[in-house]
Amino acid sequence: MNEIIIEVKKISKVYDEMTDNPVISLNNISMSIEKGEFICVMGTSGSGKTTFINCISTMDTPSKGQVILYGKSTLEMSDEEIGNFRSKEIGFIFQEYNLLDYLTLEENIAFPLSMNKVKNSEIKKRVHEIAKNLGIEGLLNKYPDECSGGQKQRTAIARALVNEPSIIIADEPTGNLDSKNTSELLAILKNLNEKEGKTIIMVTHDVMVGSFASRLLYIQDGTIKEQLSRKEFKTQEDYFYNISKINSKEQLISLKK
Ligand SMILES: Nc1ncnc2c1ncn2[C@@H]1O[C@H](COP(=O)(O)OP(=O)(O)O)[C@@H](O)[C@H]1O
Ligand SMILES: [Mg+2]
Repeated sequence: MNEIIIEVKKISKVYDEMTDNPVISLNNISMSIEKGEFICVMGTSGSGKTTFINCISTMDTPSKGQVILYGKSTLEMSDEEIGNFRSKEIGFIFQEYNLLDYLTLEENIAFPLSMNKVKNSEIKKRVHEIAKNLGIEGLLNKYPDECSGGQKQRTAIARALVNEPSIIIADEPTGNLDSKNTSELLAILKNLNEKEGKTIIMVTHDVMVGSFASRLLYIQDGTIKEQLSRKEFKTQEDYFYNISKINSKEQLISLKK
């Protein structure tokens, strides 16, 4: 077994807890993630996917339960330690890219480094190297507005990688991409996982995207309702078919609610 890097113990998240209408977003989830896994999180809209990945990545704090990062509970970490963990170990990718419009692609990619007191020459070198690997080196002086969705998402990936994080967290990163750009993004993530050993945790609505994962978590009403592992299935088609089955079943249930 590989090293466990993230473990959650009985985490729950309730929003608007003190009001007449509390929202239970996560309900008593326990699970762990090993180094080098590629996890996809699926589930209907509002099931708690974003809350779940935000809690395991320190972007949000659970109302109850514990998040344990590399063996240490966040309850025992100072805000500074948690902030350091987040900026050094985790790269985030979002559906809306979240690039800053008034910065060039180069400045956007460099942004996380400029806050980490890295030398200018070192920043330039690293940004150019990553941009080259992602095929956007020729666009570095452009602004996000001048680029396509696929180019913006590559820029967001470059920004997520610039600190050399060990974990990549992506919330519906293919949500705004066409099928060609989706395939390209998946190939990039698969390569980062297989060749560089990065742990990837990705939310998606798309069964095809989900079938790239080594493990699939299906969340419903704030709990992990089903889990599938790629290694339980003989073929990729079998894995894909079983993910689609769970997905259609849950979509139907949520339609009837
Ligand atoms: N900041 C918030 N305040 C109140 N309710 C929230 C907040 N964030 C999420 N929720 C609620 O928690 C539930 C789960 O949301 P979310 O994790 O965003 O789901 P998903 O990503 O699966 O669509 C939803 O009912 C949502 O409305
Ligand atoms: Mg979401």
